[in-house]
Amino acid sequence: MVGHNVRNGDADIDDPSDADIVIRAMGLSKWFGHVRALTDASFTVRSGEVLVVLGDNGAGKSTLIKLLSGLYDLDAGSLEVHGVRVRFRRPADAAAAGIATVYQDLALVETRDVAANLFLGREFTWGPFVDRARGMREADRALKLLGVKIPSVKVPISYLSGGQRQAVAVARATVHGASIVIMDEPTAALGVSESQRVLDLITDLRASGRTVIVISHNLQQVWDVADRFMVMRLGRVAGIRNRSTTSVDELVRLIVYGSPTEPSGDAT
Ligand SMILES: Nc1ncnc2c1ncn2[C@@H]1O[C@H](COP(=O)(O)OP(=O)(O)O)[C@@H](O)[C@H]1O
Ligand SMILES: [Mg+2]
Repeated sequence: MVGHNVRNGDADIDDPSDADIVIRAMGLSKWFGHVRALTDASFTVRSGEVLVVLGDNGAGKSTLIKLLSGLYDLDAGSLEVHGVRVRFRRPADAAAAGIATVYQDLALVETRDVAANLFLGREFTWGPFVDRARGMREADRALKLLGVKIPSVKVPISYLSGGQRQAVAVARATVHGASIVIMDEPTAALGVSESQRVLDLITDLRASGRTVIVISHNLQQVWDVADRFMVMRLGRVAGIRNRSTTSVDELVRLIVYGSPTEPSGDAT
């Protein structure tokens, strides 16, 4: 039923129908002066999947997601979201297309409570006043929907654990209606059990019908939640694989060598 389509040299990609594609990236490139941070990246993201972006430091992962988030403008290439050609010049453009990004630093305001953080800059109002009660109700609802357990939406962010903060940042991304959530290294600063909770959150996002793009350099950790992997190396897409048809070994070879097979030749 599913045909095979070869791209990026060795990419193993099933051919999804257009209706299933939420993002289509064609030849994305970005350079900073002489540094080519991203070169000719082409890939698709499918509705309701968890796509894990893998790669070593400097591989171009953050640059790629900043292009998808409207933080950077493209130097070359084009983007379609839900079949519509888009050009993101600022984060609000990506938000309007239904893309929300949770950055590594989370950008939460430590001294303000959970509810305030969820609706920062987009407060509910009642006449000329900020409707705090409504903000709290909506915040409570959003967190419950995501299965996030936080003692109260009135707790300041500074009281929360790293995992809880990550959850609040994800809730903030989803509360404004994003259908595509991008997370940059969401477990990088977390312990084992908190990381597990964030992985559960990713699964819950998918179960709610959202599409999730997760950047990670911990393959073992994200293996279970991934539907597909995209490996970046030296600013290029080295390969795209379905979890069901790849292996940790193959992905590691793609990350390290940029090829599914070890290069021949022995130095010794
Ligand atoms: N703002 C920038 N100015 C100059 N070079 C950059 C900038 N951002 C990234 N780079 C370079 O682009 C390459 C890719 O970086 P990045 O996308 O951050 O990789 P990753 O997130 O995979 O570690 C690296 O060589 C990095 O040094
Ligand atoms: Mg990065």
